[in-house]
Amino acid sequence: AAAKGGYKHFMLKEIMEQPRVITDCLTGRVTEEPDGSLSVHLQELDGIPVPSRLHIVACGTSYNAGLWGQQLLENVGGIPTDLDIASEFRYRDPIILPGEAVMVISQSGETADTLAALRLAKEKGAKVIGLCNVVGSSIAREADVVLYTQAGPEISVASTKAMCSQMVLIALMALYYGQRRSPAVFDRNLLVALRELPEKLAAALPAMQKRAEQLALRFASSRSFFYLGRGQYNALALEGALKLKELSYIHAEGYAAGEMKHGPIALIDPQFPTFALAMDDDVFFPKVKSNIQEVLARQGRVIALVQEKGRSLSSLGVEDIWRLPDSYPVISCFFALSALQLFSYCMADVLGKDVDQPRNLAKSVTVE
Ligand code: AGP
Repeated sequence: AAAKGGYKHFMLKEIMEQPRVITDCLTGRVTEEPDGSLSVHLQELDGIPVPSRLHIVACGTSYNAGLWGQQLLENVGGIPTDLDIASEFRYRDPIILPGEAVMVISQSGETADTLAALRLAKEKGAKVIGLCNVVGSSIAREADVVLYTQAGPEISVASTKAMCSQMVLIALMALYYGQRRSPAVFDRNLLVALRELPEKLAAALPAMQKRAEQLALRFASSRSFFYLGRGQYNALALEGALKLKELSYIHAEGYAAGEMKHGPIALIDPQFPTFALAMDDDVFFPKVKSNIQEVLARQGRVIALVQEKGRSLSSLGVEDIWRLPDSYPVISCFFALSALQLFSYCMADVLGKDVDQPRNLAKSVTVE
């Protein structure tokens, strides 16, 4: 598994492995009865009570995965959920009430700030759930229960398939808690769509890589980039910006699209392009569309990520529209994630950067 498998970089291999990673993460955790009924099994969680509130604590990409999952844990799982960056959590003497739990997310299981947050949570009497990829890592050993993402070794410093597997596992947790709290209210469609995702994503990735290469050639001279999204796409906007920063060394800002007017719009000009996540979600699409209009009105260039069925944005004058396959609302996030990863990969490759070992970065930040 620690070989490039014919790919130019480990990062590209690990992006392309994501369909299999999704399958592996689901393996052993979903049961289909002869009558077609589906259920989720996370026996690691069976031994601890359903938390009255879940505090998610993590760093970097793992934090972005948690932010993405917050909405699912609340809306599908019925669990009040909040988030903290680990390096902040560990120093703010957080209040953790009886019955509340802490979930630390860490691919390596060795991140110093996240491990410190775990130890603080245990000192405060909280049950700690570890969501890790590396078996037997410090966080895996010290958590009260550990859920493994089963993504296999991630060699590239930039986290790609690890985040994908974290998102799958958090979606399963939301379904698990939803089913445990009230079996009748079980989002079966989400689970069906999750199971269909690997095949659909595998089919889409080659064309997505080609589109990413085209856009990287058009935007490689950019010095700054805006990433805008709403709802779960806010978390993906943060992740897209982080990927571009850490791989191509281009300054990038990930922002909740609704925050544009509260200051950052002042940055927009022809040299400051925007990557707008406008996946066709009825609630947000009209609002992201108006954000795009605001950017265009200030001569900002836009890459708009939309679904095939997405209402056309070319009428707005968006020159770079990236259409992704239509899918179930939550599942479209996985296509968007791969697109953002591939765009950053191609930008770094075009710019001749060290894709798998970016300057100044370590795979696991084991010191503060
Ligand atoms: C992501 O591309 C980075 N490598 C970094 O943000 C990473 O996600 C962060 O350091 C947390 O690492 P962990 O998941 O191993 O705790």
